[in-house]
Amino acid sequence: MKLEIKKSALENLNVDTLVVFVSKQERGKGKKNGTNAKAARSAFVEGATREISAKLNAAAEQGVLTGSANETVFFRETNLSGARHLLAVGLGETKALDHETLRQASAAAFKELKAQKSRSAAYGMDSLPNNDLSADLTVRAVAEGAVMADYSFSDYKAKKDSAGGVERVFVVSSGKPKAYEHGLETGRIVAESVNFCRWLGDRPGNLMTPTILAGETAKAAKGTKLKVSVWDRSRIKAEKMGAFLSVSLGSVQEPRFIVMEYNGASSSKKPICYVGKGLTFDCGGISIKPSAGMEEMKYDMCGGGAVISAMLAIARLKLKVNAIAFVPSTENMPGPAANKPGDIVTARNGKTIEVNNTDAEGRLILADALVYACERKPSMIVDAATLTGAMVVALGNLHTGVFTRDAKLMGRIQRAADGAGEPVWPMPLTDSHAKDMRGTYADLSNVSAKGRDAGSATAAAFLEQFVDSDIPWAHFDIAGTAWHTGDRLPYSPRKGASGAIVRTFVQLAMDGE
Ligand code: BES
Ligand code: MN
Ligand code: ZN
Repeated sequence: MKLEIKKSALENLNVDTLVVFVSKQERGKGKKNGTNAKAARSAFVEGATREISAKLNAAAEQGVLTGSANETVFFRETNLSGARHLLAVGLGETKALDHETLRQASAAAFKELKAQKSRSAAYGMDSLPNNDLSADLTVRAVAEGAVMADYSFSDYKAKKDSAGGVERVFVVSSGKPKAYEHGLETGRIVAESVNFCRWLGDRPGNLMTPTILAGETAKAAKGTKLKVSVWDRSRIKAEKMGAFLSVSLGSVQEPRFIVMEYNGASSSKKPICYVGKGLTFDCGGISIKPSAGMEEMKYDMCGGGAVISAMLAIARLKLKVNAIAFVPSTENMPGPAANKPGDIVTARNGKTIEVNNTDAEGRLILADALVYACERKPSMIVDAATLTGAMVVALGNLHTGVFTRDAKLMGRIQRAADGAGEPVWPMPLTDSHAKDMRGTYADLSNVSAKGRDAGSATAAAFLEQFVDSDIPWAHFDIAGTAWHTGDRLPYSPRKGASGAIVRTFVQLAMDGE
């Protein structure tokens, strides 16, 4: 799909469909709390021609069009402003207009364009209600919504979803501020990175092995300033990553340790380090999972995918930061050399771990990656992992749980997530959780002495044992948000990987200190 800016009023558009944004708003200023209840509930559009307004008003009076968030009403063969059809998309209450509302509305409109077989469309920016958003952010949100909504995974189907889809989208504005081009480019790059993360996640385990993940990462990084290095099993062993290595032993697929480096600032500036769980298939190992739903464990590399995708965006956006990503990637399988419950393994920092449940493998591979990340003396470390089923139970599929003891970092994360439009929620991480992870025969156990209680927090406390205490660190458990979020977010596929936390990780780098 081609996305471009066009300077024009809502006239002579020459597209299949014109998209206008409609809000739920009181009509008639000064008439506080509107004496007319019907008018108070009606839809409202800015900057539209008389003919367009007349169409919308007629639909509003019939109660078909209300302007509520993500509502779409399609008017066929209206032939107004040079567009064959007219599509109204709702923003909800105008006073609540923020970039996430716009991102969602843009996506809802895009999906309707697709459903109505429009090949070309114009998003009429003049129809947006007055708001406090910058021109840059406004267009960025519209672009992100459209490009993310354009994603689907049909690589292995004879009939591709993209066939007959939307080919050209114009973002049309009579003003066309300079910032529009920048916003469009930023939005496109961020959304394409989210889509890349989804694509990595959606590929099945046999076609997204650690070797393939590393290969696709290197391929995607071509033409950017990213330096990608990939370690094989013998190097991982030589680097004393005994916990990571132990997980890989049950599989015939070789593990890979993927490192991506980007230098956009002076070398004296400490890097942001990203760490992501790249478990390409998790059957649980010897502590095998039940078969129902096991196919979903192809998504267990979505933390790694998010980190890889965020780095691609950072490099393509040429952000003025230094950043390094570390993705330990392996399968978790019950082959003859697999970890056995009770086995003791040694991590890169010398700490010993009893593997009391081979299905708690994510923390084992992340442990070594975190130790290695600390050695780079970063300004901060953020990790993303589909780490615990308990996270899904606690927060569901909208909020990503964030674990950190660093209040300043939590503030930064909250701002970045708000800026990116991704809900995050602070979770507890205390000495008690750390105590639950002590081992009987080794320094640590990979499962909590308290069983499933606070399972996400005890997992986070385990990870904490591998991070230097003077380095600001936060752990993002994306087990609930990494896939099947389309029931809540119009720009996410109904089923499949969501690309969760890519936007927040990019925003963290954009925000700077
Ligand atoms: N990848 C899973 C976590 C997971 C489960 C994510 C369900 C999404 C949905 C992880 O490796 C795992 O198996 N965790 C165990 C830990 C337990 C054995 C302490 C879990 O959550 O059950
Ligand atoms: Mn597991
Ligand atoms: Zn796992």
